[in-house]
Amino acid sequence: MSEQQVDAGRRRFLTVATSAVGGVAAVGIATPFVLSFLPSERAKAAGAPVEVDISKIEPGQMINIEWQGKPVWVLSRTDVQVKNLAKLDDQMADPTSDMDQQPDYCKNRHRSIKPNLLVTVGICTHLGCSPTYRPDLAPADLGPDWQGGFYCPCHGSKYDLAARVYKSMPAPKNLLIPPHKYLSDTRILVGDDK
Ligand code: FES
Repeated sequence: MSEQQVDAGRRRFLTVATSAVGGVAAVGIATPFVLSFLPSERAKAAGAPVEVDISKIEPGQMINIEWQGKPVWVLSRTDVQVKNLAKLDDQMADPTSDMDQQPDYCKNRHRSIKPNLLVTVGICTHLGCSPTYRPDLAPADLGPDWQGGFYCPCHGSKYDLAARVYKSMPAPKNLLIPPHKYLSDTRILVGDDK
């Protein structure tokens, strides 16, 4: 295993090369803000499920993994962030996840199995750009009502921290929630929920 840490503006990305174990890519975890993990080339090529260690994610941090060639975000929401989701319902295009954008077990306001942990595909439902994680409150460019979420720089679509799209955005749907399951309290498997 090797590590390479890169500073990129306000974000810090950490890339950890990982090894495949029995067809499942096992990924580790390290520190701050946005973390990025790369499963093995063999696992990526096969579209294998990706095992993610969530034991060290701090509230507010997000891990960026790759599954089936797509970015998948694993976000640890704070209790306040979870609570604030309810206040945003009337601004959301699909607040109760009626559209087919998640497995049944994530068809709830927080769009997740456990309220604090969001797993979502980081591809905008408009034309496929990758939105930016913007947990900051009321930044100048997103306005005083911004409670944190994801912002797509291509055409301005906004999503909240449950990856629900705001009304009247170019993007028509919430971000996709991939199949996933908990292997334990500290490990999840993305890409398989059987
Ligand atoms: S691709 Fe995201 S708003 Fe167009």
